[in-house]
Amino acid sequence: MKKKIFKDILGKKLSGEKITMLTAYDYSMAKLIDQADIDMILVGDSVANVVLGLESTKEMTMDQMVYHASAVRRGAENALVVGDMPFESYQLDIAQATCNARRFIDEAGCDAIKLEWFDHCLEVAKEIIKAQIPVMGHIGLTPQTAEALGGFKVQGKDTESAKKLIDQAVALEQAGCFSLVLECIPDKIAEMITKKISIPTIGIGAGLFCDGQVLVTHDILGLFDRFKPKFSKQYLDLSSIISSAVMLYRNEVLSGQFPDKEHSFTVKQEVIDKLKGGQN
Ligand code: KIV
Repeated sequence: MKKKIFKDILGKKLSGEKITMLTAYDYSMAKLIDQADIDMILVGDSVANVVLGLESTKEMTMDQMVYHASAVRRGAENALVVGDMPFESYQLDIAQATCNARRFIDEAGCDAIKLEWFDHCLEVAKEIIKAQIPVMGHIGLTPQTAEALGGFKVQGKDTESAKKLIDQAVALEQAGCFSLVLECIPDKIAEMITKKISIPTIGIGAGLFCDGQVLVTHDILGLFDRFKPKFSKQYLDLSSIISSAVMLYRNEVLSGQFPDKEHSFTVKQEVIDKLKGGQN
């Protein structure tokens, strides 16, 4: 395996080979994902929900995102690592947003940043790209501004809103984004966008026709049960496996089965004898 570069990701759109992406928020998960040859790892602000137990991704701070991103970078040797710009990162002005994007690259070692669509997102994206930082756009259901979209629901179901999504996709490509996340939009609309733009589309709840797919790793492993999105597929029930191991550990500690000889350290008997005899 070798370190992925942007040309590899763009090349996959041209060759028709699907692009794979998963989220990670720490070193050990990033390492496992990297070893499975996943193309890109997103340090998503979904960390708020699935790791920190917060209600909204809007609660994530820039400092927290950089902290998680640097741990992911240490675990990911080959995958492209993308840092997700949290809501607070672009609240003040474009200069602050660009400065925060730079923190993902300089402090955490990310390869790119992801920016959810919002009112002035195009100006912000252009400025970040001008600063030589690769940007992944994100349209459709954008959790940071979900209230303005009428809540957490599928976007682009009528002609007007689908047209808006297509226009946003084209505008983000023209702004210089290297790829685009399409979240919770009908598969046929995602297909139209995918055919219309030359940068790769990465779908989450956007059907089969996208150039690639991204999911939240905690969802596919069955590690998060507060809500289960319809679009996510659970490949493993890791929660039950972890619960069984934790219960087994507890029972062995209570019964004195653990720690056994194999997991303990020994000392020569003469040391004990001397200690008991009061000698040093
Ligand atoms: O934060 C995240 O995990 C995301 C994905 C849902 C695309 O933005």
